[in-house]
Amino acid sequence: MSDKTFYISTPIYYPSGRLHIGSAYTTIASDVLARYKRLMGFDVFFVTGLDEHGQKIQDKAADAGLEPQAYVDGMAKDVQELWSLLNISYDRFIRTTDADHEAVVAQIFEKLLAQDDIYLGEYSGWYSVSDEEFFTETQLIEVFRDEEGTVIGGIAPSGHEVEWVSEESYFLRLSKYSQWLADYFKEHPEFISPDGRMNEMLRNFIEPGLEDLAVSRTSFTWGVPVPSNSKHVIYVWIDALANYITALGYGQDADSNFAKFWPGDIHMLGKDILRFHSIYWPIILKMLDLPLPKRLIAHGWFVMQDGKMSKSKGNVVYPEMLVERYGLDALRYYLVRSLPVGSDGTFTPEDYLGRINYELANDLGNLLNRTVAMVNKYFDGQVPAFVSGVTAFDGDLEVKAQETIQEFHKQMEAVNLPRALETVWKFIMRTNKYIDETQPWVLAKEEGDREQLASAMSHLVASLQWIAGLLQPFMMETSRSILNQLGLAEISSLEGLAFGNIPAGAQVLAKGQPIFPRLDMEEEIAYIQSQMAGGQQEEAWDPANVDLLLNKKAIKFEDFDKVEIRVAEVKDVWRVEGSDKLLAFRLDAGDGQDRQILSGIAAYYPDPQVLLGKKLQIVANLKPRKMMGLVSQGMILSAEFEDRLAVMIVDDAIPNGSILG
Ligand code: MSP
Repeated sequence: MSDKTFYISTPIYYPSGRLHIGSAYTTIASDVLARYKRLMGFDVFFVTGLDEHGQKIQDKAADAGLEPQAYVDGMAKDVQELWSLLNISYDRFIRTTDADHEAVVAQIFEKLLAQDDIYLGEYSGWYSVSDEEFFTETQLIEVFRDEEGTVIGGIAPSGHEVEWVSEESYFLRLSKYSQWLADYFKEHPEFISPDGRMNEMLRNFIEPGLEDLAVSRTSFTWGVPVPSNSKHVIYVWIDALANYITALGYGQDADSNFAKFWPGDIHMLGKDILRFHSIYWPIILKMLDLPLPKRLIAHGWFVMQDGKMSKSKGNVVYPEMLVERYGLDALRYYLVRSLPVGSDGTFTPEDYLGRINYELANDLGNLLNRTVAMVNKYFDGQVPAFVSGVTAFDGDLEVKAQETIQEFHKQMEAVNLPRALETVWKFIMRTNKYIDETQPWVLAKEEGDREQLASAMSHLVASLQWIAGLLQPFMMETSRSILNQLGLAEISSLEGLAFGNIPAGAQVLAKGQPIFPRLDMEEEIAYIQSQMAGGQQEEAWDPANVDLLLNKKAIKFEDFDKVEIRVAEVKDVWRVEGSDKLLAFRLDAGDGQDRQILSGIAAYYPDPQVLLGKKLQIVANLKPRKMMGLVSQGMILSAEFEDRLAVMIVDDAIPNGSILG
């Protein structure tokens, strides 16, 4: 066991919808740091999870026709599946509905109440359910008034509507700690990155004097109840922030991870939640007499060319699609390389594919391919022994390798991941240039140049080993594949890495395998665009088609042809437990196996058994998806009219599996 410890956390995400590449970014960036620290000999604890309480989640569950617990259980499964697809090496997946977490949150609240850091009062204000936050009238970006000019509503800075709420509430005595926090900031300039954010917090919130914060609600029930006054539930942000210590076992048992890992090293978070982490969280910890986390790293957002990602705009990019089509490492690389430190980054399909083609397939992939091919051609696949500094080119490359690793560590410590990758890429380019400088194909012609040729080969292999080591926290599969193709062992530590440490007799693969495919830009841009939820590009509009097309845009025949609609007979149908919307069907689609499809039509078929034996039309080649923990392998076609809905039943005489078109 190492005595160097490292504790890193992501924010805990709201399970209010599918997670997009923005949340994937924070989690992957944290994973990169966790893996890096492990390779540097640290004992790492990495926490991520879900923020499952609050009115927003209660409302989402109600929309889905589910109890909140059933709803968050389903979401938690999906999110964990996503993290496993992205190879996230977390040590604990904390959910705010975990019993140990809830118990400690209640305990913290009562402790602060007993010591008068929390008190009971009355709150009135403009409340936004979506933001889970109260606003003053002056904070609203728009106010609605009645005829007499009285304000009757408004819009929060986030764009969400607010409502007037007046309720008894507990308050957290932030006001008492304004000065303490201002002093803490001044004594710990490293507490918040990037630079500049700390001043923003001081100027905008702390120096004007903090107001006490309402930390309980009586308007809904989905949360941790205040033990001594159960009509109140504890405000989600107290519940959520506490995860950073409950995940370590704080308040539970004495020799938990808490003693070992707290104070945390890094909380990764987005700029929008820095206020909660830099003001409320430190003050809560101070009240609990606990040390503060060492660093808050606030990153910008991934946005689209037309602004924020949003379902209604149809411009949301989900990570699964990118992984399925282009592999995990391309996604991990793109996300951490493209978001500049401290500002927003724009996702574009062109940029995504460009990085794959130029940086991954060209710069890195070609270097590997050329090296494997040359070692095969000139040395029968056996890597010559490494000898330092045979030529001036070799000496220079060795120096560059040392400079690279130093700069790399510096950037990793600074949590400047794009710069760390850029440093590796400069070295990749330098190594590519080394091939041009040494010209192995010329050396191969003269027997007298054999030693130089051997040295060029071993230096190329050493550089790729170096590159594979530094890339390992970012792209595990790529790193493994590079080493494997060169006949080298996996790297389990970056601490003792020495340039040129290649075992005698390493045997490269007889034929190199491309680590990244070269992509057809135009085709793939179209693909990514078609996959952005509902986000078809505007196409030239032919007025002649308006009547025929009603409210849809024209598609090409090839697009229609991708959809396989089949006749399938209902063998069994039942209501899905815990959902009042979903029916589950077992169908025979003529392919000799049972097919399960879930359909949100329960409300229209109070007695679903009437569908038994009926032949329906299904979309048979939809990608399977999970709902409520059950797999759905397709979609049942139906027609909606007035306020009714009917499934598309076909004639009994048509055999199961017949294809419509
Ligand atoms: N539940 C709170 C966090 C509580 S932490 C004690 C929350 N959840 S969230 O799901 O809305 O956001 C989680 C994180 O995702 C935030 O850090 C937020 O900045 C980040 N992102 C949301 N959209 C994003 C992008 N488009 N790009 C990058 N990060 C984004 O807030």
